[in-house]
Amino acid sequence: MRTTTAYEANLARGPFDAAFFTVMGGYLDWLMRSRKQRVFANLPDEIVELGSGVGANFRYLRPGMRVIAVEPNPAMHARLRARAARHEIGLELHDVVGEQLDLPDASTDMVVSSLVLCTVSDPAQVLAEVRRVLRAGGRYAFVEHVGAKDRPLLRRIQRLVRRPWAWVFEGCSCERDLAEAIAGAGFASVDIEEYRVHSPVLPFNTHLAGIATKGA
Ligand SMILES: C[S@@+](CC[C@H](N)C(=O)[O-])C[C@H]1O[C@@H](n2cnc3c(N)ncnc32)[C@H](O)[C@@H]1O
Repeated sequence: MRTTTAYEANLARGPFDAAFFTVMGGYLDWLMRSRKQRVFANLPDEIVELGSGVGANFRYLRPGMRVIAVEPNPAMHARLRARAARHEIGLELHDVVGEQLDLPDASTDMVVSSLVLCTVSDPAQVLAEVRRVLRAGGRYAFVEHVGAKDRPLLRRIQRLVRRPWAWVFEGCSCERDLAEAIAGAGFASVDIEEYRVHSPVLPFNTHLAGIATKGA
């Protein structure tokens, strides 16, 4: 495992988030399940996952697969390792941030993430890193929550809660326009579906999912 100084572990929020995603992970996954089933289909035997958290997406993987998990919050690591073992996933844990992947250029065919581009400090830099590490024809599959574009009331609610939301969820923003960020990130093709989930947590309910493919 390698380390980075670019992520400041918070002694309260780090463990809180690890506990939150352990307890709420099943519900969050249920809200996004049909899209995850679509975009996380046909995975190669080895993938890179950004912001793996406590391993919410391991249920979509086959036993025996290898995951290079990029997860900078150390409070997630024990649960992540335990879940990898439970799902018979070969885990290579990288304690770095998505903005500075410690992986060679053109070294993987698949990168995945769920609920991560909302949290990273620089989504454009993360997307540039995803493109850098993908081989020609490689895919980036994502499921993310985003800002409400066409719903002014929801947009206003997202604005109202943005500070406490970001504080609790380690910088997470519920206002980002990630469709534009992904579409403008230089992939050869981008397939994005924008949709809503129906949870009582209104600011969380606007989502997108899709696959971006790197050109030759
Ligand atoms: C909202 S959680 C989602 C976790 C998991 N993917 C899921 O769907 O349950 C965001 C995750 O991204 C991680 N993270 C935060 N900043 C990051 C960064 N700059 N690069 C990569 N991961 C980051 C957090 O530690 C956390 O595990």
